[in-house]
Amino acid sequence: MGAKNVYLCASLENEPNFSIMYLSGSIPKITTHVLQEMKLKGEKIAMLTAYDYSMAKILDESGIDVILVGDSASNVMAGHKTTLPITLNEMIYHASSVMRAVTRSLVVVDMPFGTYQGNSKEALLSAIRIMKESGANAVKMEGGEEIRESIDRILSAGIPILGHLGLTPQSINKFGTYVVRATEEREADKLRRDAKILEESGCFGIVLEKIPSSLATEVTLSSRIPTIGIGAGGGVDGQVLVLHDMLGINQQFSPRFLRRYNNLYDEIRGSVGNYIGDVKSGSFPSEREQY
Ligand code: KIV
Repeated sequence: MGAKNVYLCASLENEPNFSIMYLSGSIPKITTHVLQEMKLKGEKIAMLTAYDYSMAKILDESGIDVILVGDSASNVMAGHKTTLPITLNEMIYHASSVMRAVTRSLVVVDMPFGTYQGNSKEALLSAIRIMKESGANAVKMEGGEEIRESIDRILSAGIPILGHLGLTPQSINKFGTYVVRATEEREADKLRRDAKILEESGCFGIVLEKIPSSLATEVTLSSRIPTIGIGAGGGVDGQVLVLHDMLGINQQFSPRFLRRYNNLYDEIRGSVGNYIGDVKSGSFPSEREQY
């Protein structure tokens, strides 16, 4: 194993709450406490989604701070129209695959629709299954006041929670559309109150999705915990994007907030086309590519 991958736990005497583990070469293992310190220092948090071992390994080795095993796996991996159909077992499968690849990043797993909204006891059991069976570091839940009981119960079991406000895709049937949220004062006020509830409950951060940047900045400045935005402007403490969108694998989704860093759809099509051509022409395999 390369030295880069060896963890040295900070001396427990010197680090009484042992919130930080160090990679040799003093690269910190990212914990929820590290994210808190990053906010205090004004260092931005970089988060991306991953749902499988191979992609998670690339992200971890690239130095991403947080990997989100998002329930966007429902769309990206399984081809569903919404995030609603994905199950707890499926999320645990994705999270376990990611965990086998990751050494440095903090891994957060979405609690899927229907596993935490109605009944706080069931919410706790769902969160425990995710943590126990995947080995992930934290869970993410959509909503504020309406899921407070579930949040309190899960936090009291020592499971860190990342909140999620604004456009919450699990509520798409209530919203009816994926347009920008909280543009009107009543909804903006509820979001401000919900952000306070999440902070006071003990969540370690809040994802703010598709809301006006002025509101996201205001919530960020008034909150002690980090905010991570997606379509929420630059005044937040960090950014998250769906990996397949930012790599240009998925070309059907082009919201204004999405920056594409690659065009892998075209790259992959080109490579697959070349392979098909080589097979059909008989130029693959060559003499050197056989035994
Ligand atoms: O599921 C997901 O990918 C998410 C991000 C868009 C924040 O929740």
